Amino acid sequence: MSEVKNVAVIGAGVMGRGIAYVSALAGFSTTLVDVSNTQLEDAENFFEKTANKGVDLGKITLERKIELLKNISTSTNLEEVSGYTDLLIEAVPEKRDLKKKVMEIADQVAPKHTIFATNTSTISPTEIGSFTNRPSKVAVMHFFNPVHRMPLVEIVRGLETSDETVSEIREAAEKMGKETVEVNEFPGFVTSRISALIGNEAFYMLQEGVAEAKDIDKAIKLGLNFPMGPLELGDLVGLDTRLNNLKYLHRTLGEKYRPAPLLEQMVQAGRLGRKTNQGIYKYD
Ligand SMILES: NC(=O)c1ccc[n+]([C@@H]2O[C@H](COP(=O)([O-])OP(=O)(O)OC[C@H]3O[C@@H](n4cnc5c(N)ncnc54)[C@H](O)[C@@H]3O)[C@@H](O)[C@H]2O)c1
Repeated sequence: MSEVKNVAVIGAGVMGRGIAYVSALAGFSTTLVDVSNTQLEDAENFFEKTANKGVDLGKITLERKIELLKNISTSTNLEEVSGYTDLLIEAVPEKRDLKKKVMEIADQVAPKHTIFATNTSTISPTEIGSFTNRPSKVAVMHFFNPVHRMPLVEIVRGLETSDETVSEIREAAEKMGKETVEVNEFPGFVTSRISALIGNEAFYMLQEGVAEAKDIDKAIKLGLNFPMGPLELGDLVGLDTRLNNLKYLHRTLGEKYRPAPLLEQMVQAGRLGRKTNQGIYKYD
């Protein structure tokens, strides 16, 4: 088993920046890659702010914060970074062709031993593995939002994924302070399938005028003991990401997952949730 020292995270959005943070905190030398310099700058601010908050709350020491920030760098050069990584974690948008492109480019330059993990919420790891010449080294490593606070990583193996790859991913996740579950391959795994269904139902209710958004969220939180309402969670996840997940589940699992027209409309209007300061709710 090779030892993971260098981690590359591809995509500096909501998830990628969080994954890079916990990876650097675990002591891995971590490079965050994106096509957008603005996203990388935002991610750097996120590292600083999250680490400062961690120190203020007594969750990490000042020394650990300094170490963590030293462990992270950013880049726009996927080829170069893939050339020296032991574990690559892909977190680009939930679009099959985009993931295919990233995997193909990285596969050409990454060393033979490099493991390719994908943070996809829905797409088959067997299919993602088929984009590379190393399907035994490809699996899903599904983190949750916000990554530094959510304790789970769902590991999903594809048809060709080796036991060694699963062990190495589990070990890396545990070093990042996460609990793991191993799930068999099926669209949406366990968590995304349930979450997409509940979130979509809440959108249909809103569209049908069953209740106002804040009352739907309050009912689910206080009546069903969920930590967050499904509509606030949609804003946190990103409504575009939620829509992409639903489209995939609709295609693969059927009618039950047809995206609510109101969700499609909000995405068309650019109301993507917290990341654009407006989704179901408005943010400062
Ligand atoms: N948002 C969530 O709550 C959540 C939770 C679990 C899993 N996921 C999954 O994680 C993945 C990323 O989701 P997100 O919400 O972070 O998306 P996002 O839209 O917030 O961020 C995606 C980032 O990828 C970058 N990107 C696009 N093309 C790229 C390329 N070719 N190379 C490098 N970077 C590129 C974008 O510039 C952007 O910064 C998706 O597969 C999603 O399904 C999301």
